[in-house]
Amino acid sequence: MGNTTTVALVTGANKGIGLETARQLAAQGITVFLGSRDLAKGEAAAKTLTGDVRAIQLDVTEGASIAAAVATVEKEFGKLDILVNNAGLGTFDRPTTTEDLAHWRWTFETNLFGLVETTQAFLPLVKKSEAGRIVQLTSILGSLTLATTPGSPIYGASGFAAAYGASKAAVNMYTVHLARELEPLGIKVNAAHPGWVKTELGGEGAMLEVSEGAETSVYLATLPADGPTGGYFHKQDRLPW
Ligand SMILES: NC(=O)c1ccc[n+]([C@@H]2O[C@H](COP(=O)([O-])OP(=O)(O)OC[C@H]3O[C@@H](n4cnc5c(N)ncnc54)[C@H](OP(=O)(O)O)[C@@H]3O)[C@@H](O)[C@H]2O)c1
Repeated sequence: MGNTTTVALVTGANKGIGLETARQLAAQGITVFLGSRDLAKGEAAAKTLTGDVRAIQLDVTEGASIAAAVATVEKEFGKLDILVNNAGLGTFDRPTTTEDLAHWRWTFETNLFGLVETTQAFLPLVKKSEAGRIVQLTSILGSLTLATTPGSPIYGASGFAAAYGASKAAVNMYTVHLARELEPLGIKVNAAHPGWVKTELGGEGAMLEVSEGAETSVYLATLPADGPTGGYFHKQDRLPW
């Protein structure tokens, strides 16, 4: 008999888009590991959700934390069907000319290296799924095409978040490479731009509520067998790289 439980892990899910993604996946009957670098915050967040939601300590910049989370999921289910690499950070207050290297490293440590390490560590469990799905939270600010197209929504915004935008552009490229390599196994890997969402990162001036901001992640996490892979999406629309 196959294991019929669908198991998801959402990183950085103690608040914001990650928490809402966990909520919406759990509402579909999916078992959700709610990743949080602070377990107490994760447990408090999990209590606000209904369904099978399990808080798990996971700091994507700590190898030991990632390994312990992999061991837990392996022991409890022996597979992972859905990995949502949602944890991310950034600040949008520094002109490119004065954005120092420490800030670049801080940004890349979580947004790119943490995402890659988490993905690689969970890949053996995703390969055990019959329909593996990996969702990479990126941003429209990672689009080189839109950053260089006059009139695009981010053309004027491309001068104060170089490290953040570069980290998300790198996530986009990683997504393309990973999707190509995993395609023969039926594992779908896509990049998600949630929109400009009211969270701690997005700020109060953002346009979307989290309920709408989680839509892209949930769509890509639950793609059918004939769904796309290696794409860059906002909701169900493709974005230009
Ligand atoms: N909001 C937007 O408008 C927007 C737009 C485009 C893309 N995005 C992307 O969407 C994703 C979610 O963002 P959000 O707006 O929901 O941000 P948020 O409310 O600030 O939440 C970010 C989450 O990531 C976690 N996190 C940060 N560093 C981590 C680490 N090293 N290990 C594990 N978790 C870590 C945070 O944990 P703590 O609570 O412990 O800090 C928090 O749970 C990010 O990748 C972001 O870049 C957001």
